[in-house]
Amino acid sequence: MVKKIKSCVFISGNGTNLHSIIKRSRDYNFPIKIELIISNSLNAKGLKLAKKYGIPSKFFSSNYKEKFERDSLHEIKKRKIKFICLAGFMKILSENFIKKFNHKIINIHPSLLPKFKGLNTHKRALKSNAKYSGCTVHYVSPKLDSGKIILQKKVLISKNETENSLKRKILVQEHKIYPQSIISIFR
Ligand code: GRF
Repeated sequence: MVKKIKSCVFISGNGTNLHSIIKRSRDYNFPIKIELIISNSLNAKGLKLAKKYGIPSKFFSSNYKEKFERDSLHEIKKRKIKFICLAGFMKILSENFIKKFNHKIINIHPSLLPKFKGLNTHKRALKSNAKYSGCTVHYVSPKLDSGKIILQKKVLISKNETENSLKRKILVQEHKIYPQSIISIFR
């Protein structure tokens, strides 16, 4: 049995990426074990997954970023967490927090970075008339969506593509490359 790295996932919403990581992390040789889920939204569907899979979870409001990070850090330290995955986490972490976990926080973004950093990625991808969009897993650095890229997956934008159809298409790929990226980091 591989000794799994104690990890935490930060979420804000549906948690479909969280779900894909949870499922893969049950493989005996997957490198990480999710021992904590932190949400900055009380209504995040991902919190239900935490319950379903018996993973400890915490809600901390991010209205006051300093307090959010202090509370999160307290839990993370208490549980000896060594690795953090941001999965649909919609808040920007402070430079101070990120530096504490240098190269130990990763994120998934629904575009082919460096294209379309930030919000409304699908809308902007469609507007740009690009032939492809996709998703990227990257290390988190103090500059938004700019850390070193770990893995990307391209998807073709079809003729009648809508924001929703593109979002769905990309999400399917996100669910594959997030666990793959984690494997590739620790291989
Ligand atoms: C995903 O597209 C992710 O890339 C973006 O927000 C969406 C959240 O999806 N950051 P989920 O919460 O994992 O379902």
